[in-house]
Amino acid sequence: MGSEMKTQTATRTADARNPMVPLEFEVGRVSRETHDTFTLFLNPVNGLERFTFQPGQFNMIYIYGVGEVPISISGNPHKPEVLVHTTRAVGTVTRAMQQLKRGDRVGIRGPFGAAWPVDVAEGRDVVFVAGGIGLAPLRPAIYHVLANRNRFGRIVLLYGARTPEDILYRKELEKWRARFDLEVHVTVDRATLDWRGNVGVVTKLIPKAPFDPYHCVSFICGPEIMMRFTVIELTKRGVPEDQVYISMERNMKCGIGLCGHCQYGPKFICKDGPVFRYDVIRDWFKVREL
Ligand SMILES: Cc1cc2nc3c(=O)[nH]c(=O)nc-3n(C[C@H](O)[C@H](O)[C@H](O)COP(=O)(O)OP(=O)(O)OC[C@H]3O[C@@H](n4cnc5c(N)ncnc54)[C@H](O)[C@@H]3O)c2cc1C
Ligand code: FES
Repeated sequence: MGSEMKTQTATRTADARNPMVPLEFEVGRVSRETHDTFTLFLNPVNGLERFTFQPGQFNMIYIYGVGEVPISISGNPHKPEVLVHTTRAVGTVTRAMQQLKRGDRVGIRGPFGAAWPVDVAEGRDVVFVAGGIGLAPLRPAIYHVLANRNRFGRIVLLYGARTPEDILYRKELEKWRARFDLEVHVTVDRATLDWRGNVGVVTKLIPKAPFDPYHCVSFICGPEIMMRFTVIELTKRGVPEDQVYISMERNMKCGIGLCGHCQYGPKFICKDGPVFRYDVIRDWFKVREL
């Protein structure tokens, strides 16, 4: 989709819409993923027919009367008729989002930010490493490589959740695991009695995962501590730092590089990220408080 995606971006750039003015969307369906995580399926109103985006991009979602939060798009970039967001309820706005029902409306600004560079990964093995809710921002890139399966080498998904109850997209993971052209390995930090799978942090899966470290691209999304150790394990296996991409999160207000809220060293996460090539931000990533 490399060239197709560039065309879509060009279309958006030509779009005269003001990026600070939200578009209205209606909740078509709500899916409860885990006790604190839910997926909203949003349909455009006011005549918009499709909402094109690139894997890894995010929207600013406005909950009327409450506030606005950045949330990655977690749907299929090849199915732009419906906009999909998976969110964990952690505070004021995301808890209000959790109360939304079919027919309720939200404001959407976006899509914003840099994408997972799926075209760079063509011809190589692709290693996705996700922690917790981090699977949501990676899912559009997974859909893309599966839709264009013959353009990529081996595809590996390593996913870690806190407990079996916290595993996101469980049915979809089972479907993917049944495929012969995709390696899916799931682990949990703490097992329950009925869990028969791996136990331990996701980085433990890296040493034995079936990919060629000298000819792969890795996309990582999860808590910063998890991404830190994932990069260490990948580089131990020989993956060059410039073949590793991570998605960063910081508080945001404007989402378009104007307000400075998301500044990260000399970069703005909303505009230069959220997806960064690891070696580009390595020096700031190593400073924990930044
Ligand atoms: C580019 C980008 C993409 C994102 N994509 C997603 C996504 O796909 N799904 C998703 O669920 N979230 C995503 N987030 C995080 C999401 O924006 C925050 O969780 C949200 O802004 C919190 O707002 P709130 O008003 O609910 O919480 P607040 O009231 O602002 O915060 C309440 C409490 O929650 C804590 N908190 C805030 N953010 C987080 C967090 N990320 N994790 C854990 N605790 C937190 C705060 O420290 C505070 O203690 C993304 C963030 C960015 C920058
Ligand atoms: S959120 Fe305003 S500059 Fe990034």
